[in-house]
Amino acid sequence: MKPPAPSASAGTSRRVPLRWRDEVGGVLISEQQIASRVRQLSRLIERDFRGREMVIVSLLTGTIMFLADLIRHISLPLRLDFIGVSSYGAGTKPGELIFTKELRLDVRARDVLLVDDILDTGRTMTHALKKLRSLKPRRIRTCVLLDKPARRVKKISADYVGFEIPDHFVVGYGLDFGERFRNLPFVGVLRRRVYETTVGSVSRQT
Ligand code: PRP
Repeated sequence: MKPPAPSASAGTSRRVPLRWRDEVGGVLISEQQIASRVRQLSRLIERDFRGREMVIVSLLTGTIMFLADLIRHISLPLRLDFIGVSSYGAGTKPGELIFTKELRLDVRARDVLLVDDILDTGRTMTHALKKLRSLKPRRIRTCVLLDKPARRVKKISADYVGFEIPDHFVVGYGLDFGERFRNLPFVGVLRRRVYETTVGSVSRQT
């Protein structure tokens, strides 16, 4: 089933709080829309993983809010672990990804749900999947809150998608720009002048 595109809906707060308005131009997905969609995703996942040895593997760091909300609605026994993938590290070439945190749990013969906040170019998810597959789980499913197909360079899609979004620079609900904005409770669109004028900021969405 095609994931919903974010849309304005009655009864949801779509105004950017005053303290963020200078840098964040608009609310793309409100807190209420996120909460409702995350509950739907949890139900789908619960149905598909029932009776399995489930391990959730979450990619650091942007997944924090999505993961916390998702798993509290999954009423199944599960294990939780994290992996870190980054394109920024000593000795890395442009576009090269390295693991900054390795998996601790054994996933062999288990059912893995790989969770990330956004599927953008697809490089991160592709890299993480390659690693996971080498550890011989029984099955891997992927789940992302946001899917931005316009920027994809790898042939990859996720099994569970919260929202398909247009090619905006999005922040909030875990997503950052230069490590800021992760604490916004909604997904917002960063004003162009912020990411075009901030010197030395590190970001994957530009
Ligand atoms: C962001 C995001 C995804 C990845 C998606 O991570 O959290 O993991 O980029 O981009 P891609 O599909 O183009 O690979 P980032 O490396 O910025 O780390 P973060 O989660 O710590 O913000």
